[in-house]
Amino acid sequence: MKAEQVIQTLQAMNQVIDREAQYLTDLDAAIGDGDHGINMKRGFAAVSTKLEGETSEDCGDVLKTVAMTLISTVGGASGPLYGTAFLKAAQAAKGKTDLNKEDALEILTAAVEGVQFRGKAARGEKTMLDLLIPVKEAYADALDEGLSLEETKQRIFSVMDESIAYTKTIIATKGRASYLGERSLGHQDPGATSSYFLIKTVLDSVE
Ligand SMILES: Nc1ncnc2c1ncn2[C@@H]1O[C@H](COP(=O)(O)OP(=O)(O)OP(=O)(O)O)[C@@H](O)[C@H]1O
Ligand SMILES: [Mg+2]
Repeated sequence: MKAEQVIQTLQAMNQVIDREAQYLTDLDAAIGDGDHGINMKRGFAAVSTKLEGETSEDCGDVLKTVAMTLISTVGGASGPLYGTAFLKAAQAAKGKTDLNKEDALEILTAAVEGVQFRGKAARGEKTMLDLLIPVKEAYADALDEGLSLEETKQRIFSVMDESIAYTKTIIATKGRASYLGERSLGHQDPGATSSYFLIKTVLDSVE
């Protein structure tokens, strides 16, 4: 994937987030403060505008622009978390003009570690990490096993479906949703859901 295609994927992320903003906000209204869709939509709209002027062929530069834009526009808990994810992704992609599947694993791993470092959350706390960590592991396994692209996508989609369902079965212990304690049970995590849409967009754009 070249920088130009990375930019197209990010533009597609903006469209998906824009379309799903109300859904994300509704999920956050149930267990948080109802701003997740608004936050994400504002951030990715700014990313989209910013990328219209992006000319670098270095994928790291493109991802760094995204990180800086998200950090300065998203706010809330998810702004710094996604911002750090893209910043770490940018560092992993630095100097690369054409990303292959091994690069993709390095970039994803760096991004997920960034979220873990920034948010100090672990798996099972009802956050975006309950989707991102299983996705990273599934992708690493798929590469190890030498799966085809189609098989890899199928594997990741099914892991994502399980992960989203899993967030409904656990109690939030991080972020605003943790104030609800047991009342957070039965509700789907908004951050895991926005991560689902972002990863889905990447999967849909690789051929
Ligand atoms: N420490 C954390 N680590 C990883 N993800 C987190 C953490 N805290 C919150 N999140 C994610 O952020 C999402 C909420 O994002 P939102 O944009 O609504 O920010 P917010 O309203 O400021 O945050 P919060 O509701 O967490 O106080 C949650 O659904 C969860 O997935
Ligand atoms: Mg919120």
